[in-house]
Amino acid sequence: MNQLSDRLNSLSPSATLAMSQKSAELKAQGVDVINLSVGEPDFNTPDHIKEAAKKAIDDNFSRYSPVPGYPALRNAIVEKLKKENGLEYTAAQISCANGAKQSVCNAILVLVNPGDEVIVPAPYWVSYPEMVKLAEGNPVIVTAGIEQDFKITPAQLEAAITPKTKALILCSPSNPTGSVYSKEELAGLAAVLAKHPQVVVIADEIYEHINYIGKHQSIAQFPEMKERTVIVNGVSKAYAMTGWRIGFIAGPEWIVKACNKLQGQYTSGPCSVSQKAAEAAYTGTQAPVEEMRKAFERRRDLIVKLAKEVPGFEVNVPEGAFYLFPKCSSFFGKSAGDRKIENSDDLAMYLLEVAHVACVGGTSFGAPECIRMSYATSDENIVEAISRIKEALSKLA
Ligand SMILES: Cc1ncc(COP(=O)(O)O)c(C=O)c1O
Repeated sequence: MNQLSDRLNSLSPSATLAMSQKSAELKAQGVDVINLSVGEPDFNTPDHIKEAAKKAIDDNFSRYSPVPGYPALRNAIVEKLKKENGLEYTAAQISCANGAKQSVCNAILVLVNPGDEVIVPAPYWVSYPEMVKLAEGNPVIVTAGIEQDFKITPAQLEAAITPKTKALILCSPSNPTGSVYSKEELAGLAAVLAKHPQVVVIADEIYEHINYIGKHQSIAQFPEMKERTVIVNGVSKAYAMTGWRIGFIAGPEWIVKACNKLQGQYTSGPCSVSQKAAEAAYTGTQAPVEEMRKAFERRRDLIVKLAKEVPGFEVNVPEGAFYLFPKCSSFFGKSAGDRKIENSDDLAMYLLEVAHVACVGGTSFGAPECIRMSYATSDENIVEAISRIKEALSKLA
């Protein structure tokens, strides 16, 4: 019997979480698996942030929080946006949630009516189309291949917009490709959007600080865009705080108020102790952020160099985040024994079982010709993983 709602039945399970689970199962059986499937920094939360949380517990900072988060945290975010991004917001334009994931979902749920279209550039973060489906909207996928560094052009955006378009979800730096839109590229997209004032941009900037080409650029910097951009960000990736679950949106008050209303009936304000930790992250030293960024950059250089030496891989040079997204379609149709590789999900399973390296097939990112490898792991693991992958792939003929 299936009495689940159509809404639920229409959702796909998260492929990234499924792969992490499979790899954990193999590990539990004693197999030496190198896990390149995870989407989180391998660093610990910096000490001064942990101290702030410990103090919050000792101070009995343990009551329900205001739905959008405590003013102290929202003010810290306002300062962050001013100092780091040159953007002016008031605390009333900030709403904190249980991670950037909830922030994205809140924004979609308050904007999208059944039948509305949301433009989702592919490759995309796995959850975007599913969240749009949850809102009973239609994800409109606009594909950008490796030959255009996985970034959509203004002409592609223009062609995808219809009277039903409600929003565009833009992720830069991108999960899963690591691609970063330059200021000029964002200006090109903004020029198209200027002709379509009904389209709101949900700008997912969660990888802002893991950027190898200099200053982060937000589409909200263009004055005509700021009033219809919802910036999504949070502490998960920059401060190695994935488990603390603090994200936020910054945007026009009518959207922020709507998110507060939704959240007020749904989850309430996020964890009070985590809010104190996030406040310390934004107001304290930023040195650990730069240290982690440098480590990711070194690893990016390493994995790009090694992956380029793997015959059959086509590799872009990611400018941010901590993922490599090689094109691997040259292996499709090849076999090892009675095992045939038809697509990148097959390839990911083959690499897990034969090379004992966990990656994620590109299908659930809207790029079935690619495979995602997270390099948020040690240099030794990167070297060993790519060597195992190279060997396993050489057996395919
Ligand atoms: C592009 C993107 N947006 C949002 C999130 C969610 O972040 P959080 O852990 O803060 O919910 C992730 C996490 O993997 C992500 O990759």
